[in-house]
Amino acid sequence: MSVPEVIVGAEAMRAWTRRQHASGRRVALVPTMGALHEGHLALVKKAAEIADRVAVSIFVNPTQFGPGEDFDAYPRTLDEDRAHLEGQGCCDVVFAPAVSEMYPLGANLTWVSVDRMGDHLCGSSRPGHFRGVTTVVSRLFAIIQPDVAVFGLKDAQQFFILRRMTREMGFGTELVGFPTVREEDGLALSSRNRYLTPAERAAAPVLRRALLEAEASIVSAGQRKAASVVSLVRSRLAAVSECREDYVQLVDTDTLQPVSDLVPGSRVLIALAAFFGKARLIDNVLVDVPQG
Ligand code: PAJ
Repeated sequence: MSVPEVIVGAEAMRAWTRRQHASGRRVALVPTMGALHEGHLALVKKAAEIADRVAVSIFVNPTQFGPGEDFDAYPRTLDEDRAHLEGQGCCDVVFAPAVSEMYPLGANLTWVSVDRMGDHLCGSSRPGHFRGVTTVVSRLFAIIQPDVAVFGLKDAQQFFILRRMTREMGFGTELVGFPTVREEDGLALSSRNRYLTPAERAAAPVLRRALLEAEASIVSAGQRKAASVVSLVRSRLAAVSECREDYVQLVDTDTLQPVSDLVPGSRVLIALAAFFGKARLIDNVLVDVPQG
């Protein structure tokens, strides 16, 4: 496959999809903020398996960053990203709009937001973050009109919020959630891992280990109290000097509201965020609470 075409204009992007649909092709979208790694590329591969044409959007979305967050420092590596996509051979078009293309009238007045599901987990430490995500993704859907969009379950809260938004807005886009791609030692791949010092990088797999231990406490040891699971994870994070906990929480996967007693047969999300130096890393595990 040749170098993916780069489109920067919303109208040109819309016309691209129109051409695909006119030829009866199914279009998949993988929305990203660039700085692509193997996790993103796995989503692109998945997209190519379930659609005839794949669009990857690369846009560092200002409205999902809070004051003092890393919007300015966020890596912008379009040429490298293109080379990765070319090497992989699954992407047909890159949509890389300027901020003025996605927010054409300057200060943004039109927002899409999902009530309640953004109140906990990352929503409480990043106020306004999910409103920025749902607004930009709904705009990408409006421009690109994909038949299917692929998101990573590494950002599980984001996925469940976007799934709700897509169903309620009637976009007609199917959402696919893809499992987290990890380093061999369990650390979830993330664009923010590049901020880690060697000592922080060596310490960071504690996140995965603590979550697996939490899962085992529910599935194998019969733990049914969310507070006890949270205490277990907290104690593992606290034992690592490089790690500063942001949150550890268990929530229901439909509503993203905290749970206290784990109901047999239900599915819970155990999610956490922690700082390693200036990098804020997240991870999670989905647990099916055994019957009985
Ligand atoms: P970004 O952080 O660039 O992530 C783009 C997509 O890649 C998201 O769906 C994310 O969940 C997925 N992803 C990241 N790391 C992954 C990993 N290790 N394994 C599997 N998937 C992974 O998420 C965003 O951008 C933005 O919020 C966006 C949805 C593009 C809206 O601006």
